[in-house]
Amino acid sequence: MPIDKERTIRCYDVVAPLYSFFRKITHKSDNEIMPFVLNILDPGDEDAVLDAGTGPGIYAIKIAEITENARIYGVDLSPNFLRLAEQNARDAGLDRIEFLEGDLENLPFNNGYFDKLICAGAMSAVPNRERAASELYRVLKRGGRAVITEPNKGKDIRDRAFLLLLYGLGVFNPNLRGFSTKDISRYYLNRDSLYSLLKRAGFETVRMVERAGSMCAVCFK
Ligand SMILES: C[S@@+](CC[C@H](N)C(=O)[O-])C[C@H]1O[C@@H](n2cnc3c(N)ncnc32)[C@H](O)[C@@H]1O
Repeated sequence: MPIDKERTIRCYDVVAPLYSFFRKITHKSDNEIMPFVLNILDPGDEDAVLDAGTGPGIYAIKIAEITENARIYGVDLSPNFLRLAEQNARDAGLDRIEFLEGDLENLPFNNGYFDKLICAGAMSAVPNRERAASELYRVLKRGGRAVITEPNKGKDIRDRAFLLLLYGLGVFNPNLRGFSTKDISRYYLNRDSLYSLLKRAGFETVRMVERAGSMCAVCFK
């Protein structure tokens, strides 16, 4: 069975508070991926920045904290994640991030709107990844840069635990069952598949870097 988007998002909706709680804790001790992403993106006050599949809004919030006027958008399909992202931004004293509902396969922005974008851990949940990669490419300006991070299959125990949680919820409640056991092995992208996906989408340069159990694709348009 291919990944069922609606059910997967329902499942994300259920795990959103738990995920947000743990993400806030782990992000505090993250001195590898977050600094790496920020260093590559180097967001400035003139930039429009997208956090695609924002979840609890950790990247959007961090980018807002280190810029004064950057236009920052966080997009997600899960209403619960969006509510949590808004709450997390309010808790951080920020009111200039726009969080909005949107699908990675059909982003609600004009061509070339963004200077920078981050998409962290969201591509694996999307049924049509080719389409999502093309959308990330489309909304980025020529000369813009993107970092797309995905868990490096099986290397990080937290990622495996998270996937098991998503699958386990679906076993108890079929309405939340977005993928089958067969899909588990295909759920995560690997280094080669992420690289070629992004090259096919049109990115001129894609540089793959490994950081703390995650693959980071640094892409230039
Ligand atoms: C593992 S979480 C990562 C969240 C966040 N980027 C982070 O670093 O913590 C994956 C997120 O992707 C979102 N997502 C999954 N499929 C999506 C889609 N088709 N369009 C938009 N968001 C999607 C989920 O709702 C979830 O918030």
